Amino acid sequence: MTPMSYSRTEITAEQIRHEQAVCDALRRRLTEGGTHPLALVDTYGCQQNEADSEKIRGYLERMGYGFTEDEYAADVIVVNTCAVREHAEMRILGNVGALVHTKAKKPHQVVAVCGCMVQQPHMAEKIRRSYPVVDLVFGPHDLWRFPELLQQTLEQHRRIFAVSPSDGVVAEGIPLHRQGSVKAWLSIMYGCNNYCTYCIVPYVRGRERSRHPNQVLEEARQLVLSGYKDITLLGQNVNSYGRDLEEPVDFADLLRSIDALDGEFRLRFMTSHPRDATEKLFDAMANSRHCAHQLHLPVQSGSNRILQRMNRHYTREEYLEKVALAREQMPDLVLTTDIIVGFPGETAEDFEQTLSLVREVRYDAMFTFIYSPRVGTPAAKMPDPISREEKQAWFDRLLETANGISVEKHHAYEGKTVRVLIDGKTGREPYTLSARTDGGRLVHLRGDASLIGTFQNVKITGSNTWALYGELQ
Ligand code: SAH
Ligand code: SF4
Ligand code: F3S
Repeated sequence: MTPMSYSRTEITAEQIRHEQAVCDALRRRLTEGGTHPLALVDTYGCQQNEADSEKIRGYLERMGYGFTEDEYAADVIVVNTCAVREHAEMRILGNVGALVHTKAKKPHQVVAVCGCMVQQPHMAEKIRRSYPVVDLVFGPHDLWRFPELLQQTLEQHRRIFAVSPSDGVVAEGIPLHRQGSVKAWLSIMYGCNNYCTYCIVPYVRGRERSRHPNQVLEEARQLVLSGYKDITLLGQNVNSYGRDLEEPVDFADLLRSIDALDGEFRLRFMTSHPRDATEKLFDAMANSRHCAHQLHLPVQSGSNRILQRMNRHYTREEYLEKVALAREQMPDLVLTTDIIVGFPGETAEDFEQTLSLVREVRYDAMFTFIYSPRVGTPAAKMPDPISREEKQAWFDRLLETANGISVEKHHAYEGKTVRVLIDGKTGREPYTLSARTDGGRLVHLRGDASLIGTFQNVKITGSNTWALYGELQ
């Protein structure tokens, strides 16, 4: 293993106590005379961002804010952004720009923009120049000090920009306001060291930093004690967990220690990089009490030439071997993936190889994206002669193939009885409840809302591309 050439910055308990004291001071001010300030937190991007928003809400709650979905009612709006594709950035900028209307009606409204998009210097600059509606900008590395940043914004009546370049920090003890009471996110590590040539994440999220295993285990224990039934461990590449820690611990060890907790709960994780997915991990999953037999294993491409240019560090053959190994250990494994179509230099032949890999593996579900150039990444400088129309035609073919396989896989559930966790309402009659199988497939059910948060046996009676339909047994 190569020694780490970067330093890991741990935010001290004292620093977090200071932030909490700032929250308490703001609370006294904001709730003076019995007023109830409101906040809206709008989140884009991956689960890691959802988890970050739970920290932002945790701080806001401690400051005395209640939550609203109404932009016109909010005293503070926090937009937590994503930079992974251009489409996401365009949508975010459009929505942030539209906040001039709400602010015109509510001049004291504070607009904060945080997260991955603004960690890019050119984006922070764009907001500074072209989006005067934005009062506060902070990147992922400055989230832990959101209370003092908001306090400065409220008290100094000037725009605050806090996007320090950083390898990243680890901060424990930030209060959390979780979104649900059945499913929970649990971040086990932050950042990414892989530098896939198309990807912006390592530039905006910093280097890989693992939380200490005792902190993760304690949070998991608390979640189980509080009644959470479905825990998803989060990291950009969970299989690298522990490499930056002094104690000898890897992801499979961590999984085993959480699995040893008593209680009725399900354990999932994402995302796994195929290069680092090991037999030890599959073994830990297969022989666990709580771990779902579900693996999100992004392949990105089925062509070795493209995989190499993407800097993925595995071949098609190695990937297929890992899939076979995982399925050998867990014949009921639900397997999903991400695929990029139209990477610079990809030819029709490369694309056919992706299609053939998809047909060979037969994923339960796939997330497919057209390549989007990201400023500062190596791929953005590679020649990209294929037209947008052609890429779109490839994309459509891939989607059709993926959907065809999902339909067949879902159809095969019909008539079977499966265990599900009922996790919420669909809002649609007559199948008013939503649930997930152990493998994470969506099931719509008829039943009473009092069943939310319980595990049930369900007979699958119907299906389509996206979901299964079932009856309680
Ligand atoms: N860390 C995860 C994925 C993070 S981003 C992993 O390595 O699997 C989620 C997905 O977005 C990626 O798997 C990839 O398929 C897609 N993606 C990332 N950068 C992209 C880009 N520039 N254009 C199109 N899709 C991209
Ligand atoms: Fe991006 Fe690759 Fe890291 Fe995933 S592993 S976040 S795709 S650089
Ligand atoms: Fe987007 Fe940042 Fe996640 S770029 S995908 S929100 S890590």
